[in-house]
Amino acid sequence: MHEVRYNPRSYEWRDDPYPKYRELRDHAPVHYSPESDMWVVSRHADVQSVLTAPEQFGSKTQFRQRQKEMDELSTFQKLRSLISVIAELKILPTKLVKARMLIMEDGEEHSVMRKLVNKGFTPRRVHSWDERIAELVEGCLTKIRQRERFDLVQELAIPLPVTVIAEWLGVEPEKKATFKRWSDAIIQGSTGEAQMVSGPGSPTWTAMVGLRNYLRPIVKARRAAPQDDLISILVQDEAEARLSDFEIFFFVLLLLIAGNETTTNLLGNCVEALLANPDQLDLVVQDPSLIPGLVEETLRYDSPVQFITRFAREDVVIAGTTIPRDAIVAVLLGSANRDERFWDEPDRFDVRRKTSGHLAFGFGAHFCLGASLARLEAKAALEALVPELPGLVRATDSVEFLDSVLIRGRVRLELEPRARSAA
Ligand code: HEM
Repeated sequence: MHEVRYNPRSYEWRDDPYPKYRELRDHAPVHYSPESDMWVVSRHADVQSVLTAPEQFGSKTQFRQRQKEMDELSTFQKLRSLISVIAELKILPTKLVKARMLIMEDGEEHSVMRKLVNKGFTPRRVHSWDERIAELVEGCLTKIRQRERFDLVQELAIPLPVTVIAEWLGVEPEKKATFKRWSDAIIQGSTGEAQMVSGPGSPTWTAMVGLRNYLRPIVKARRAAPQDDLISILVQDEAEARLSDFEIFFFVLLLLIAGNETTTNLLGNCVEALLANPDQLDLVVQDPSLIPGLVEETLRYDSPVQFITRFAREDVVIAGTTIPRDAIVAVLLGSANRDERFWDEPDRFDVRRKTSGHLAFGFGAHFCLGASLARLEAKAALEALVPELPGLVRATDSVEFLDSVLIRGRVRLELEPRARSAA
């Protein structure tokens, strides 16, 4: 029997997880990792069935993990964090416990909330940003063009989504720099090792308090006089869905965490794949109508979100293995998107591939709310960037991956003109 060793929380496979994913799919499609106490599901069909059965696999996993951490703290420490929550976030513990967070709700609770927030992301609303996004891309590229060497991640892929979300929310121009600082600190605290130090007093915590204090008066003002921004949609008094001030704060946090780094890495991973596959770059340079396909193929081939989690509400049999009740399940999107049972030649980057069925945005009720916005941003950035790429090469061979096993991407991607590197 082929024994597979794999822990979704370990950095051992971070730089190239794909051979390990194949081994899992072939020999242990439902694998138990004792180190992280998680069950790992890796085949396309199984990933899809977990994500379409919220009555068997619930979404409140974060809460359960927190609860475990809380159980390990002393009473004194618990008291201290509770007092800071009340004092700094200005929320009563009873309200905090009741506050709903879209990504962690299931069933009816989730669908009433989702119906409300969907209004902020209708196709019409997303496409009304076409021009502004193209303008923001051009602004980044104008700065980049004046430089001999530039870092695509830091100078385009990071600022673009952060600026779009800030404007989408209606953050005033003079507050944008502060908003970006909070957003950076919150994103840093949401992934990697930093997750461990995001309690009271940490930079992430300070940023959350800043954001909460900033949002409070704005939410109040929009309740009194709605404007044409996302906060105004969120405060709409939709009977059951009515979001409390704290739930709006949670939702904004979710947008920052779910919408920024993911879009950044979609762009970085795409350019990385094009540089590694010059024949595919030639194809998109010759025919820019392939760009939407390029975006989808990148999502499939090198997914920005490698896995998401669920918990088993009851014993469930998947691929012949019983996942026990209360288990935390790591659902490997990055592996499903390379499953040879679903895709032909899954390890080949092919911009003309039929990509429908990729699971990079999740599947089912929690399917990414920002998918069309992310696609729009990526398309605008690549339409401007692709014609320039044949003239650019990597400025250095070193690759540094993000400090995360959840989010896949490179910390930087430095490029310079081809002629200069040949000299
Ligand atoms: C390439 C970029 C992106 C990727 C790969 C991505 C991926 C995902 C995935 C996999 C999920 C499902 C989570 C689950 O089922 O547990 C999700 C949900 C979500 N995403 Fe995205 N996302 C991206 C961009 C965005 C953007 C731009 C926004 C908003 C501005 C956004 C907002 C959300 C929200 C609010 C949810 C929760 C939906 C729900 O629970 O109903 N995402 N995303």
